[in-house]
Amino acid sequence: MKIAVLISGRGSNLQAILKAENEKKLGNAEVFLIISSNPNAAGLEFAKNYNKYAVVLDPKDYANKTEYDKKLKSIMLENDIELIVLAGFMKVLSHSFVDYFKNKIINIHPSLLPAFPGLNIHERVLEYGVKYSGCTVHFVNADVDGGPIIAQRVVEVLDGDSPDSLAARILIKEHILLPEVIKKISENKIIVNQRRVKVN
Ligand code: GAR
Repeated sequence: MKIAVLISGRGSNLQAILKAENEKKLGNAEVFLIISSNPNAAGLEFAKNYNKYAVVLDPKDYANKTEYDKKLKSIMLENDIELIVLAGFMKVLSHSFVDYFKNKIINIHPSLLPAFPGLNIHERVLEYGVKYSGCTVHFVNADVDGGPIIAQRVVEVLDGDSPDSLAARILIKEHILLPEVIKKISENKIIVNQRRVKVN
């Protein structure tokens, strides 16, 4: 299963995926292509280190979202990409793009969705005072952070937490969860029934 990983910054989830692939823990999935929306993304280094083909698609080079997503779509089709993994990709994809690739795009989000979608998640988690947070891998649909949930991991919020300390503990779980889900998808072990996703 040929996958594309889309990033915008640090790329630690990309690194975790590449490491899992190297260790033969990614099932039938092959990281075929990496796309960064940011030419200066630190995560591009990982592409180099693991000898992976990487493309920078900077929104600044496109007149609008439609043009950007058109280019993205053509790259996916030209490369026969079967799964698109958003790993810290900070651009919202257009409805037509996500509709076209229905159940073929997954995203990792650092909260227990549907709680705390969007940005500044850990700040809001601490402000609200919830006792547990975590991370979610979900299919991407037209509702931002609102697609069917595939898997979640829980992290306890501690009294002394800052947004950074909480983010760091959640990130450890993200790095385990995302490659695990990719592996399951590549082995056809994920069954989607409306919003309910069964992982075998
Ligand atoms: C991760 O924590 C990911 O869950 C989050 O951005 C970080 C990217 O880190 N994604 C979102 O907030 C998406 N809404 P990374 O670049 O080191 O993988």
